[in-house]
Amino acid sequence: MASVKAPQTRAISAYGYEQAKALTFAKYGEPADVLRLHTHSISPAHSTNLTVRFLASPINPADINQVQGIYPSKPAFTTSLGTTEPIAVGGNEGVAEVISTGSGVKGLQKGDWVIMKSPGFGTWRTHAQSASADNFLRIENKEGLTPHQVGTVSVNPCTAYRMLKDFADMNAGDWFIQNGANSGVGRAAIQLGKLWGYKSINVVRARDSGMEELKADLKGVGADVVVTDEEVQSKEFMARVNEWTNGGREHVKLGLNCVGGKLATSMAKALSSEGHLVTYGAMSKQPVQLPAPLLIFKNIHFDGFWVSKWSDSNPVQKKETVNHVLNLIREGKFKDVPMQEVKWDWNTEQETLVDAVSGTLQGFRKGKGIFVFGET
Ligand SMILES: NC(=O)c1ccc[n+]([C@@H]2O[C@H](COP(=O)([O-])OP(=O)(O)OC[C@H]3O[C@@H](n4cnc5c(N)ncnc54)[C@H](OP(=O)(O)O)[C@@H]3O)[C@@H](O)[C@H]2O)c1
Repeated sequence: MASVKAPQTRAISAYGYEQAKALTFAKYGEPADVLRLHTHSISPAHSTNLTVRFLASPINPADINQVQGIYPSKPAFTTSLGTTEPIAVGGNEGVAEVISTGSGVKGLQKGDWVIMKSPGFGTWRTHAQSASADNFLRIENKEGLTPHQVGTVSVNPCTAYRMLKDFADMNAGDWFIQNGANSGVGRAAIQLGKLWGYKSINVVRARDSGMEELKADLKGVGADVVVTDEEVQSKEFMARVNEWTNGGREHVKLGLNCVGGKLATSMAKALSSEGHLVTYGAMSKQPVQLPAPLLIFKNIHFDGFWVSKWSDSNPVQKKETVNHVLNLIREGKFKDVPMQEVKWDWNTEQETLVDAVSGTLQGFRKGKGIFVFGET
């Protein structure tokens, strides 16, 4: 006989206590093996404490690496959520609404939307209490914005923005080349680059079906050229780059690499002298090889970028970058990336949430997974 599950009911908040659920892990491992949905209560906010309710939290590749224990930024393992064993809450990015503040909280009030200042806060949860408002960046004007847009602004668009601005001396008419062009970062780079007058060569993985649709999709948001990883590694590729760049008179000053391996090497060869190849991800798990002639004869610069470190070192610029992108979104100049929404209500089962996280590990996806909180 099929077992009948007792209906889950949300405990009523009494005396200002808030009931919360969080997707947590007590040890590192594959998400399906280690993630557990944990229920706990949050005491009323007092002093400098404030309680927030999450609205939307994406599932980024780095979040998975963090659960696996292979990401340099480690989450805090704590017993403060009422467990005997220390646990950490997954997720690093998201938007939350302030629902109550202690009397000592300055600069934030009920109803404000906030994003995390730094990674490691734990955003895959319905509610959280923070000891200080300093953990958050207040969204100054949430008018015209959705939780999806605000909840995904601080990692991918900021990464694309800074990589386009901070490495090569890019001017209108200059080119950049990037792989993972259909990723969140890649789509942001295409759009920001277009707004600033840069031209882009966009590399995506060859696929059995849907290539023409993907090309059209990326061209629709501003890509000049879309090619497959196989085309980039073919003998004819340099001749094609020459054609696109007016016989090399227009310079390919910047490469953005989140894949690595031989593809990154082929992209580096397409750069003009003094160009920069900025590595910010390693989706293929293959090392980046630096051919000596590119270093000796073209003085190609190989750089790396990590938005977490940049945000910690540049809090003011981070705020400005976030606000600039949010303004572009509001003005309709920056389109949302495709997202696969996972609704998280109070009764949503652990399995649904864990499956959504595990699914992120698979390639050729239709969009970025994002937890969108409903009745919590
Ligand atoms: N350094 C930083 O500060 C920083 C900040 C943000 C993101 N990142 C990194 O940037 C990358 C993209 O992140 P995102 O959030 O924008 O990604 P996303 O939207 O989740 O998209 C994932 C991308 O990775 C590609 N991909 C998946 N498996 C792959 C494989 N085995 N080989 C090559 N490509 C593969 C996908 O291409 P298909 O469609 O072909 O599967 C897709 O383009 C990740 O490596 C992430 O860790 C770094």
